Amino acid sequence: MTRAGRRLQRGRPAAACHGSSAGGVGAADYSWSMPDSQQSRPSAATSSPNVRTAAISESVHALAAARQRELGRPLVVLDLGGGTGGLAVPLALAGHHVHVLDPSPDALASLQRRAREHGLGVAQEAGTGSVAAAQGDADTLQDVEAVRELVGGRPIDLICCHEVLEWADDPAGTLRAIARILPPGGALSLVTSGRLAAVLGRVLAGRFAQAHRALTSRDGRWGEADPMPRRFDTAALTELLTSCGFAIEDVHGARIFADLVPSAYVDSDADRRALLELEAAASAHPDYPLLAQLGAAMHIVARRRS
Ligand SMILES: C[S@@+](CC[C@H](N)C(=O)[O-])C[C@H]1O[C@@H](n2cnc3c(N)ncnc32)[C@H](O)[C@@H]1O
Repeated sequence: MTRAGRRLQRGRPAAACHGSSAGGVGAADYSWSMPDSQQSRPSAATSSPNVRTAAISESVHALAAARQRELGRPLVVLDLGGGTGGLAVPLALAGHHVHVLDPSPDALASLQRRAREHGLGVAQEAGTGSVAAAQGDADTLQDVEAVRELVGGRPIDLICCHEVLEWADDPAGTLRAIARILPPGGALSLVTSGRLAAVLGRVLAGRFAQAHRALTSRDGRWGEADPMPRRFDTAALTELLTSCGFAIEDVHGARIFADLVPSAYVDSDADRRALLELEAAASAHPDYPLLAQLGAAMHIVARRRS
């Protein structure tokens, strides 16, 4: 898809638009909200823990709940590259208004199915959580007016950018755009792929030259066949965020062991919980900070400075 083609598609008919969020931009392909009858359902994130996503998801829910307490209302969330809605749908079930912006029509269709499966219907009333999806990408954020229309003119309280910055044409430009569209105090949840986890993964696969390359290359890739366009070093990323006007609140590694363990070892809820508890202890252990840096994912929480 061309750069222009990937930009927010204005004027597309909304399949099931709800009032303000689809609003003037006309770009929301799908939108759903939670009927009152569903409001007391437990979050999808709490049923059976997914070891790849649970720790980050829990931490985003805690961040959203804290911000909601500060503001006294549910949040307006922009989930850049939110894909199939693994984060967006539980946030909507928690009562927030989530706008997913993703270039993949297939992902957006899966998001629609997931939303329906969790009982999210077309928004009729204010006060219910909702998910709206639009096709667009990181470059879309450069168009402040388009983003404003996308979220119905409301201030954005939280931007999630999970495992997306690696794919952006201009990661630094994307972070600067995020800083521009977030009001002071607005929160950013950023998840990126860790370089050291790739090194370890290549070593364990017996690909020592690739591990060496992942360790020393500028972009953290292990070779031409590496499906990941780039990986980030945490220090450089936090420096960049600070220079863009963010105050860093938390940095922690996630999926330290989860991606290394054969799935056959993690086939019961008890296994999953034990692994998650180990992950939590390792990511925050004061004596072994290196463990956190081995995470396949690095989770940074930052706030827009005033
Ligand atoms: C690895 S998935 C992550 C999905 C979701 N954020 C999560 O954490 O589960 C990467 C997502 O980024 C989207 N994506 C790829 N390139 C993008 C870009 N330039 N801007 C925004 N999203 C992009 C893909 O369509 C995909 O849904």
